[in-house]
Amino acid sequence: MARRKKIYEGKAKILYEGPEPGTIVQYFKDDATAFNAEKKDVIDGKGVLNNRLSEFFMSGLTQIGVPNHFIRRLNMREQLVRNCEIVPLEVIVRNYAAGSMSKRLGIAEGTQLPRPIVEYCYKDDALGDPLVTEEHIAAFGWASQQDMDDILSLALRVNDFMSGIMLAVGIRLVDFKIEIGRVFEGDYQRLIVADEISPDSCRLWDIETGQKLDKDVFRRDLGSLTDAYSEVARRLGVLPQSNVTKPTLIN
Ligand code: TMP
Repeated sequence: MARRKKIYEGKAKILYEGPEPGTIVQYFKDDATAFNAEKKDVIDGKGVLNNRLSEFFMSGLTQIGVPNHFIRRLNMREQLVRNCEIVPLEVIVRNYAAGSMSKRLGIAEGTQLPRPIVEYCYKDDALGDPLVTEEHIAAFGWASQQDMDDILSLALRVNDFMSGIMLAVGIRLVDFKIEIGRVFEGDYQRLIVADEISPDSCRLWDIETGQKLDKDVFRRDLGSLTDAYSEVARRLGVLPQSNVTKPTLIN
């Protein structure tokens, strides 16, 4: 079979040219990396789970009118998405202190924040994705003031949606990261949620036990990452309800 043209290979995904103009095939790899790829492993089944989970979250966002790149699933590891120009920012929303915020500000992990806090990091692996302010973003032209208003509104809508959907299955959405893409429709540009939404890019804690069900399991060597992601998928109804630990998928 003629292989599609590879456009980009990142740490967890590969992008191929899509079958129609303006589309991209997004392939989810089993590779897991942390600390800017200082720690790496191949986690059997992770790509399959993230493909399905990202589809589940993006489809839900579509249903509540939050524009995003997802078009349709192609197979176990691939989905068709809209081609967009990624804004070079990681947009992080935090509901509880954890990770780099806890370290930076000395706030105990798990402390509820007075309100959701949105942070921006400049996407640059060589620099380790440094935290930046809106001043940097405006001065260096990474996004306009109108873009920033739209990005903030998208981030907070994703937060409300993801917090609610997780709360309903006994999981606390501690924080997450999204990426934003620009799509051009004639002379007009629009911002949409892009990349992926999965346990790779969220912190998810069981509400009762505090058990971590996200990539911190890998970052901090806390056990099986596929067991954790499968548990999230099972609770959301993306996997069968039985005690499945392998990523056997239902339609
Ligand atoms: P942090 O506490 O390490 O800054 O992470 C905040 C959130 O962003 C957390 O949910 C994990 C996610 N994240 C990514 O998706 N990619 C990354 O490269 C990093 C550092 C964090």
